[in-house]
Amino acid sequence: MYENFKNIIDTLNSNSHFRTIKDFEKKDKKYIYIDRKKLLNLSSNNYLGLADNQSITKKFLDSTRETYSFGSASARLLTGTLPVYKELEELISYLFNKEKTLIFNSGYHANVGINSSLASKGDVIFSDKLNHASIIDGMKLSQGKFFRYQHNDMESLERLLKRERDNFKTAFIVSESVFSMDGDIADIEKLVELKEKYNCMLILDEAHAFGVFGAKGLGVCEKLNLMDKVDLIIGTFGKAIGSMGAFATGNKILIDYLINKARSFIFSTALPPINIAFSKWIIENELPKTYEKRRKMLELGQKLGNQSHIIPVIIGTNKDTVDLCNILFHNGYFTLPIRPPTVPEGTSRLRLSLTTEIEFEDIEKLVEIINPYINKSN
Ligand SMILES: Cc1ncc(COP(=O)(O)O)c(C=O)c1O
Repeated sequence: MYENFKNIIDTLNSNSHFRTIKDFEKKDKKYIYIDRKKLLNLSSNNYLGLADNQSITKKFLDSTRETYSFGSASARLLTGTLPVYKELEELISYLFNKEKTLIFNSGYHANVGINSSLASKGDVIFSDKLNHASIIDGMKLSQGKFFRYQHNDMESLERLLKRERDNFKTAFIVSESVFSMDGDIADIEKLVELKEKYNCMLILDEAHAFGVFGAKGLGVCEKLNLMDKVDLIIGTFGKAIGSMGAFATGNKILIDYLINKARSFIFSTALPPINIAFSKWIIENELPKTYEKRRKMLELGQKLGNQSHIIPVIIGTNKDTVDLCNILFHNGYFTLPIRPPTVPEGTSRLRLSLTTEIEFEDIEKLVEIINPYINKSN
């Protein structure tokens, strides 16, 4: 009965594709412990060190007068809404200078709900080829058609727009700002220019930039002063903010539409109030203090040759990538092999993500170890 699944698992295993959930013993600041081994954690989205941070959690709990519960027991449209949800949504609208905001349970929920519901029959989405799986899943569920342009290639996007835009009613361009696997940054100025020229709406996922880029930490759009040019900005609370959940902020009509049509929002129990309160508290109290640390982290990313705090080390084959991860493990570094289908075939890689707690001295030896591997694949 299970033969078919077993065959698939065997194939995954023989291609070094098989994934397992690791049993970590504990996390402590920039370190993670497995099999009683202390490892520098280079695979975390805890960019500001706010998640798993006992002193931050304690500070938050001490500062809240209300006893927030750990369950909402209902979807937002039923009885799952309390004032703190609205307070967080209003805070995001205020910071981004947008009309309205909607909280989703995660970035995955947000992208699936938004991309599946906004584009109806006769509409079209133009999506960067390396956009996150949640965007792809959303587009696949949509009644509209979608086209994928070459990664961060504005000529490829314009060719598609020229060829296809007029065949459809409403059109959307969807991109990440900081790309999750490559750590490069979308050409947002050009995306804005193209969306205006071809009468499209622009949706930007700032999952890896919210809490990291910009004077206030709102993302790349803030840094470039382009927030008002983007129709829908998505950010997540589960990465730099150290919490859970996501938001979409934009025009009131779009947000009201999502409240009525985004099924991942409608048909799922709302996040626990304590979690919403924590996200709000972090954004109000901790994020404003992080500017200098964020600047240093991004400087280190640049020193390592990338535009952001996410550094892809492209190795090539699955086997070489997995082997290198094992070598790094024995040298005290926790990295994960990123393999297809997460990244294109032949570009298996290590994805090193920096946090504000990691300094160059921490990774000097790692750079020495990985250098020959990079050369080998070229
Ligand atoms: C660009 C991007 N969007 C959305 C998500 C999903 O966010 P969440 O983990 O909150 O579901 C991720 C997750 O890694 C991501 O990289």
